[in-house]
Amino acid sequence: MLSPVTWVTALLAGIFSVHIAQRLRFPYFWKDFFFLLKIIRYGIRLEIYKLTKRVVTVIDRFIQQAAEIPNKPFLIYEGVSYTYQDIEKRSNKVAQVFAKRGTVKKGDTVAMLMSNGPDFVSVWFGLSKLGCSVAFLNINIKSRSLLHCFNCCGAKVLIVGADLLDTLEDILPNLQEDNISIWAMKTETSYPGVNTLMDKIEEASDKPVAAELRAITSLKAPNLYIFTSGTTGLPKAAVITHLQSLKAAGGFWAYGGTADDVIYTPLPLYHSAASLVGIGGTIEMGATCVLKKKFSASQFWNDCRKYNVTIFQYIGELCRYLCNQPKGENDKQHKVHMGVGNGLRQDVWREFHRRFGKIRMCELYGSTEGNLCFMNHIGKIGSVGRSNFFYKIIFKYVLVKYDMVRDEPVKNQQGFCEPVKSGESGLLLSKISAQSPFFGYAGSKQLTEKKILRNVFAEGDAYFNTGDLMAEDEEGFIAFKDRVGDTFRWKGENVATTEVTEILGLVDFIQEANVYGVEVPGNEGKAGMAAIILRPEFSFDGKKMFDHAVRDLPTYARPLFIRIQESMEMTGTFKQQKFQLVASGFNPSTIEEPLYFLDYSQKCYVSLTTPVYQSIVEGKCKL
Ligand SMILES: *[C@@H]1O[C@H](CO)[C@@H](O)[C@H](O)[C@H]1NC(C)=O
Ligand SMILES: *[C@@H]1O[C@H](CO)[C@@H](O)[C@H](O)[C@H]1NC(C)=O
Repeated sequence: MLSPVTWVTALLAGIFSVHIAQRLRFPYFWKDFFFLLKIIRYGIRLEIYKLTKRVVTVIDRFIQQAAEIPNKPFLIYEGVSYTYQDIEKRSNKVAQVFAKRGTVKKGDTVAMLMSNGPDFVSVWFGLSKLGCSVAFLNINIKSRSLLHCFNCCGAKVLIVGADLLDTLEDILPNLQEDNISIWAMKTETSYPGVNTLMDKIEEASDKPVAAELRAITSLKAPNLYIFTSGTTGLPKAAVITHLQSLKAAGGFWAYGGTADDVIYTPLPLYHSAASLVGIGGTIEMGATCVLKKKFSASQFWNDCRKYNVTIFQYIGELCRYLCNQPKGENDKQHKVHMGVGNGLRQDVWREFHRRFGKIRMCELYGSTEGNLCFMNHIGKIGSVGRSNFFYKIIFKYVLVKYDMVRDEPVKNQQGFCEPVKSGESGLLLSKISAQSPFFGYAGSKQLTEKKILRNVFAEGDAYFNTGDLMAEDEEGFIAFKDRVGDTFRWKGENVATTEVTEILGLVDFIQEANVYGVEVPGNEGKAGMAAIILRPEFSFDGKKMFDHAVRDLPTYARPLFIRIQESMEMTGTFKQQKFQLVASGFNPSTIEEPLYFLDYSQKCYVSLTTPVYQSIVEGKCKL
């Protein structure tokens, strides 16, 4: 028989070893557990809204905060502080202008073409208070695509920033023909038929409009339209419901943000990261947001020190630009403790930590329109998200085998997809269900259908196709590998290859174009490249090509490289073959076909010679 002492020792040793085993096998158990509790708590709040039909939307939350903390700075822009009450009153004024004139009614969609600034937020909130859906237009979009944007979201009113009115000059008549009423953020304008808004805002009352106007009964009512470059054709208007806005607004909070945080947002507000996560998240916590018109690497840390910034929003490129700045003695002197964003690569991540201290970098993976989101709350370098047993119960996602050459998921003999093994790259799909709905794109059933993959594992099932190749390791860390299909990312924007192809097709000497993205060392994402076939009897004209690209395509979508081909290869399913082209890149010493490079200094596509190639890969040439 064992003595009590031995028995107790054995028991203690047992407990100790279980604890050690748990620490070894599940080193993130408690971190996962507490993170999940937060997510569930937030989820319950949303469920209660659904059940009681008493929805507290982001705008409701803003109005609550304006009543509770009226004098707290909400936005800081160009050194000026705007309190919650300031923006509350200014957005009331915007609402009053339109309410008085009956320009819009509850349920209408209004388009906004504005740069970052406090008035972006005031106009957006003013329209929300009237019960309108707001469509954010990308300020880089060129005229042809812009006209299309109106058609897809059905907006009849456009509000345009003072600095952007001139960019509309050539399409103003088209907009007016379509009876779109245009309001410029100016006190006077020389364009006939354009209304001024600034003067009317100044005169309007700052009293709130009736609360019934903004009341909704379903979280699934559309709230915003945010344009994304889709896999096909022109920009698509992703339908953002109140449900998605509320989920995104919980981002900072889930990562441990509080009312004491000061958030730095240098990203454009017409993207969901800055508007939904940034502004929405600031409101949710009752914090302060330092808003920038544009990101500036040289001002970044000075701004952070000046405003006591604690959290910043990023895209991968932004962190790289910061690392490329000359080293300073005070690089580590700041109060920033967290970065929230996506697309940070491992090498930049490590360098960023070395230079600027141990800032917790929280990757947030999720597309604007998607029904799935990953968060890397552990902060493990190189991972975009973290999954575990419980997470998989809440979010039904799967990685399936993908054939890169044929550019489609691998099907087994029964015609179904196959999940990859742990550690292998696969296409990320997310099951569409009542819990994880996919709201699709405004005005296009066809486009919505294209993002849905059906009969994946069984007849009749449906999954949202993210178009991203990911891998999940044994520990449940998820890493981004590549983007498949017809989009790539460059300078933080999605580029739809078909949209670029269509525009290149308008050049007289191009018979056929195949657009894809190639990796350029030292750069995030992929740079645009086009393989083209010339029309018989025509030759390549670098100057004409340059003028065309600059006139009709936004900066990030212009092909940096052109490859002239004799014929175009197709995949087994008659899609243009891109895989080989992407793999062979743009190196003139390995490619025999003529190559050209978009040279802004010469305003022309010039021959891509080996010296030019060298200066590009060594980072000496501005892209
Ligand atoms: C614009 O309004 C005018 C006058 O109300 C109307 O005759 C015309 O059909 C409208 N055009 C469009 C494209 O809706
Ligand atoms: C930043 O923090 C310091 C010290 O805590 C304080 O003196 C300063 O006023 C703060 N600056 C701003 C802009 O809040």
